[in-house]
Amino acid sequence: MLTANSLTFSRFLLALPGVLAGRRYQRRALSRELAALLQVEDSRIVLYDSGRAAFAALLQLHGVGPGDEVIVPAFTCVVVPNQVPPSGATLRFVDIQRGSLGYDWQMLDIAIRRNTRVVVVPHNFGIACEVPTWLREKHRQVRFVDDAAHGFASRCDGQWLGSYHDGAFFSFEYSKNLTGGIGGFALLPAGAYLPQPALPEVSCLDQWRLLATLKAHLLSTRWPLLGRLTMALVRRLGLVYRSGDHEVVDGAAHPARELPLLSAVLLRAQLARLPATLAHKQQLVTRYQAALGAVPGIQQWPAAADCHWVRYPFALPFHVVDKARLARELSAACGLNIGVWFDDVIHPAGSFRHGYAAGSAPHAETLAASVFNLPVNINLAVDGALERKLQRLQQALARLLREQKESA
Ligand SMILES: Cc1ncc(COP(=O)(O)O)c(C=O)c1O
Repeated sequence: MLTANSLTFSRFLLALPGVLAGRRYQRRALSRELAALLQVEDSRIVLYDSGRAAFAALLQLHGVGPGDEVIVPAFTCVVVPNQVPPSGATLRFVDIQRGSLGYDWQMLDIAIRRNTRVVVVPHNFGIACEVPTWLREKHRQVRFVDDAAHGFASRCDGQWLGSYHDGAFFSFEYSKNLTGGIGGFALLPAGAYLPQPALPEVSCLDQWRLLATLKAHLLSTRWPLLGRLTMALVRRLGLVYRSGDHEVVDGAAHPARELPLLSAVLLRAQLARLPATLAHKQQLVTRYQAALGAVPGIQQWPAAADCHWVRYPFALPFHVVDKARLARELSAACGLNIGVWFDDVIHPAGSFRHGYAAGSAPHAETLAASVFNLPVNINLAVDGALERKLQRLQQALARLLREQKESA
């Protein structure tokens, strides 16, 4: 998958000397810059090694414990529900809407119970939404926490995503809007106080792993073959950094750590160029919207121009049995990297279920079987080559839809 959406190989190299300034300096500077961008006080930004750790901290902030219930959207990444059981609270999945990729507010209203303490609000692919005032007023015991992992710097009616509910968690993992290799932060609600004990540092070996893995990802964005070879080498040397199987397969919670120095340095380099990055990505998305709009039967989702898409989603009008294979075929046909997020109600397929009952979130299940996505990455030029790739994608999709119709 094409990652490092806001970072180029040259900026990666240019940013590296920043590590000499030390982790305390770089983290403080990053917190300040994030706060300035999001127009909040510095004290509302708390950095972590991941979005999942930031989510766990927000559960703690809201005093979630035994007897409480946390609602998580069906159509999420397994590391989100993983953080709930250690709090002692129970976990419930609520379906999302096919038309918005977010909750149906009426359905959510019905789903909320007396012991519901936190509702995780999804902003899948970066599409920012706001919980209606009537719902918040009706359920005053509930804290609405934004899963903003896909939508750093997205806006909703002019407000920065994460700034208008009861806190938010963001991710800077390889594939997200900004890339720190790993990393994330919690945006606390105004006036909230969260004790911040010193956390363990990411080990030196893991930081080398991050560096090696990121380098391979970045090479792939420009030189796919070289990137693949580098990644194979990095894998062979045991230097790939990824979530452990105990989290993905066994559903274990993630022990929080500090944001690595390397991540802070790279994130600051990307923040410094954010307006140009957003403008470039918006141009890409405009091309995608036009190209996909010309293929009848392909579903897209409306979003404001200030949506910071993490990838650009589209759906086929039928269930696909092997999404990974179809994504590979479409990628080969058009030359663009087609992704499969999310490939299951609890992504990735094969991950821990947390008691999810098959069939209980039919909309999310349909989406998981039909949504694909296109890269929203500054390494992708908006030029004639992109137009040709999009034409090939249109042809491949039109062929697919024709074949499906004939076989129905
Ligand atoms: C929707 C969503 N929320 C949260 C996360 C967790 O972020 P992190 O990997 O930084 O813990 C992810 C993915 O990785 C995600 O896709």
